[in-house]
Amino acid sequence: MSVTWSAKDHKNTNQPAATGLKRARNDVGNKVTVVLGAQWGDEGKGKVVDLLATEADVVCRCQGGNNAGHTVVVDGKEYDFHLLPSGIINPKSTSLIGNGVVVHLPGLFEEGDKNEKKGLKGWEKRLIVSDRAHIVFDFHQVVDGLQETERQAQEGKNIGTTKKGVGPAYSSKASRTGLRVCDLLGDFKDFSTKFKNLVHQFQSMYPSLTVDVEDQLKKLKEYAERLRPMVRDGVYYMYEALHGSAKKILVEGANAALLDIDFGTYPFVTSSNCTVGGACTGLGIPPLNIGDVFGVAKAYTTRVGIGAFPTEQLNAVGELLQTRGHEVGVTTGRKRRCGWLDLVIVRYAHMINGFTAIALTKLDILDVLDEIKVGVAYKLNGKRIPHFPANMDVLQKVEVEYETFPGWKTDTSAARKWNDLPAKAQNYIRFIENHIGVPIKWVGVGKSRECMIQMF
Ligand code: GDP
Ligand code: IMO
Ligand code: MG
Repeated sequence: MSVTWSAKDHKNTNQPAATGLKRARNDVGNKVTVVLGAQWGDEGKGKVVDLLATEADVVCRCQGGNNAGHTVVVDGKEYDFHLLPSGIINPKSTSLIGNGVVVHLPGLFEEGDKNEKKGLKGWEKRLIVSDRAHIVFDFHQVVDGLQETERQAQEGKNIGTTKKGVGPAYSSKASRTGLRVCDLLGDFKDFSTKFKNLVHQFQSMYPSLTVDVEDQLKKLKEYAERLRPMVRDGVYYMYEALHGSAKKILVEGANAALLDIDFGTYPFVTSSNCTVGGACTGLGIPPLNIGDVFGVAKAYTTRVGIGAFPTEQLNAVGELLQTRGHEVGVTTGRKRRCGWLDLVIVRYAHMINGFTAIALTKLDILDVLDEIKVGVAYKLNGKRIPHFPANMDVLQKVEVEYETFPGWKTDTSAARKWNDLPAKAQNYIRFIENHIGVPIKWVGVGKSRECMIQMF
């Protein structure tokens, strides 16, 4: 399938303007295309990135860690990526792990080796890792588990994290005791001292934490040598990519808007900015270089872990979506909670991200339903509220206003163009598009690369 990238992806060719200031703004360089989750994750970002990556020169991850799980199905083979950008599958593109990502080195190499057994060749030569990326240590993962136990004991509920150490690693980063790739590749004696201090800091907070420091350092030294050829100054790499010859650059968001540390359903969120700002801070690129921002939303809603979920269906509909949609976490194997499409959250994600188009995935999962509901507004005490509530107690209490659509009761999995879709499915899609106010560019009707209808 050939994929249309918009004209904005190409080098800006505007004429220089009269003033120096405007002239500088016009000489912006290449634009990056950003793909972001518009719900609570697992919307099918991996599949959308894979589609675009077939033509990309560079594919970047800018935030998150191996808490992400992105599935890509090519030629009947299913690959899952956690830290590696999904574009690593394209032998002609370079993949970059940016400074905003937190990297668990054993996880990274295990993932590469596992996918290599499935046929992914030469990935180590195509991967670049920013020297400013922070490292997730094994003890961060242990602490992730200890924090969950503590939350359960203190508050009677945990977050349901992936236990990949992502929260504790970002805490180390924010408290300025974290260690980065550049530290690991610098003087190893200095690194060892800082590592021991960091362990000590966590042990004073969690006395039950045991760490075999010498064994960890031995392993880290080995990982350092395997990693060394991939490491670059990420900012300079991106600067050259943006200002050199015309290039197609793709940014693959991990996690999603409603899991964003600032804008998500706090505290039931992840620890990074999964909205568009994360692309700038996580790669060191100016906002003017952001081109298209594609939001990915499922035709229904899912959520893994704990937290408010206004359109959740704890009934036969939820079960049907879970089983038909194979809604099981790629990273943790947990069953995903399922419910109707919630357009309040997708609109909220659009307010923050300014989507230029949407990919609506998994339409085919709705094929058997008699009727389909869509959440269009939240009410509190009988009155519609115009915003998305910050307070989780309030979100728990909202009443959802639904629009109901007749089901199309037709298999859509073989549809490859708009006209192949039944009129009732077209009606459902057009309603979503009008309600969000963003064009739908792709509609997903199956797992594999070719099961995607491109609308324009
Ligand atoms: P991500 O985290 O956003 O990349 O999404 P995941 O890979 O965690 O979950 C999405 C799941 O839906 C994967 O198993 C995909 O193979 C699958 N998927 C993606 N798009 C479609 C679609 O249009 N139809 C169907 N049936 N499955 C899809
Ligand atoms: P992708 O990229 C779905 C959820 C976890 C948990 C919360 C915090 O595949 O869409 P963390 O381990 O990040 O501290 O967990 O966030 N979560 C995700 N849920 N998809 C993801 O990523 C997720 N990344 C984190 O389930 O509720
Ligand atoms: Mg996922």
